[in-house]
Amino acid sequence: MTNYRTLITRDIGEKAIASIQKISEVDVWLESTPPSAEQIKQSLKDVDALVCMLTDPISREIIESAPKLKVISQMAVGTDNIDVAFATQKKIPVGHTPDVLSNTTADFAFALLLAVARRVVESHNAVHQGNWQPWGPYVWSGHDVTGSTIGIIGMGRIGQAMARRAAGFDMKILYHSRTRKPEIENKLDAEFLSLDALLERSDFISLHTFLSEDTHHLINKKSFQLMKENAILINTARGAVVDQKALIDALQSGKIAGAGLDVSDPEPIHPTDPLLNLPNVVITPHIGSASIQTRKRMAMMMAENVTAALSGKEIPYCANPQVYS
Ligand code: NAP
Ligand code: GLV
Ligand code: GLV
Repeated sequence: MTNYRTLITRDIGEKAIASIQKISEVDVWLESTPPSAEQIKQSLKDVDALVCMLTDPISREIIESAPKLKVISQMAVGTDNIDVAFATQKKIPVGHTPDVLSNTTADFAFALLLAVARRVVESHNAVHQGNWQPWGPYVWSGHDVTGSTIGIIGMGRIGQAMARRAAGFDMKILYHSRTRKPEIENKLDAEFLSLDALLERSDFISLHTFLSEDTHHLINKKSFQLMKENAILINTARGAVVDQKALIDALQSGKIAGAGLDVSDPEPIHPTDPLLNLPNVVITPHIGSASIQTRKRMAMMMAENVTAALSGKEIPYCANPQVYS
């Protein structure tokens, strides 16, 4: 046994922990709520590897509090909670979990899309409250999904998985991304548009960008003005990609028809947030990748990243490969 130390900020499961224990002593934060920034900071002094979650703010200050740190290994594909630029400057590889969760997350985004379009949660709640309205010609009528137009913003791994699902529903696929992707356009019969043109033409708008300075409030007051009145916004990316105040205004004023949100700004959402009183909004607590199978695979990927780094090897799932050049 070496004298490495690894801090794991949540219980990631026996198998992944045992795999890290082959190379390092391990401290696991066993509580069901995340540690605070201060608690992480205090635990990092002698730590060689940090296994963290997207709820952990891994700032420059936190990274600086860990002089021995050789790897940051996160249980998520998005790394916006980590100061990756500073980690790169310090030559610390940042591990993440791409690809393995793309289908699982797109399944969930599509579940939200169907749920909002067809009023699944609203009508379910009514039934549970004793209000089963008898079948009627227009009772609980929603919006058709099959044959409608979807606008995918961020045609990356999850955006493409979403497009494949949309194709199965005979949807017209529009997309906007930083770069145009001719191969995907051919394969999925997808049309590249400017952001504004996509917003004007889509019945469903699904967000799949990472969060960055460029994508912060990418969907804002002006965006909602461009959308159709029947538009439904699906966000499984990050809460701050949307100006949530503008979203609330758009929903309350009937500017758009509904929203399906797996993410919020902030998380958890405040219990008095007006979004929670809107019947045409389905909100889930950031569970897009939460299938048992995918979460177990993600945990093993994080363990692989840690064992590689502590063995002096390049980590296999790296968000900042520049550290190796
Ligand atoms: P990815 O492959 O890196 O895809 C992100 C896409 O966003 C890229 O295709 C990129 O475009 C595009 N993009 C970046 N900046 C943009 C901009 N300003 N305008 C338009 N498009 C822009 O990442 P992924 O694996 O699909 O994951 C995407 C994000 O989903 C993650 O970062 C995370 O925030 C979120 N996520 C959420 C859950 C959940 O539980 N709800 C689960 C997994 C992931 P180009 O390729 O054209 O450069
Ligand atoms: C989840 O939100 C992820 O980024 O993996
Ligand atoms: C509905 O249940 C139908 O039979 O159309």
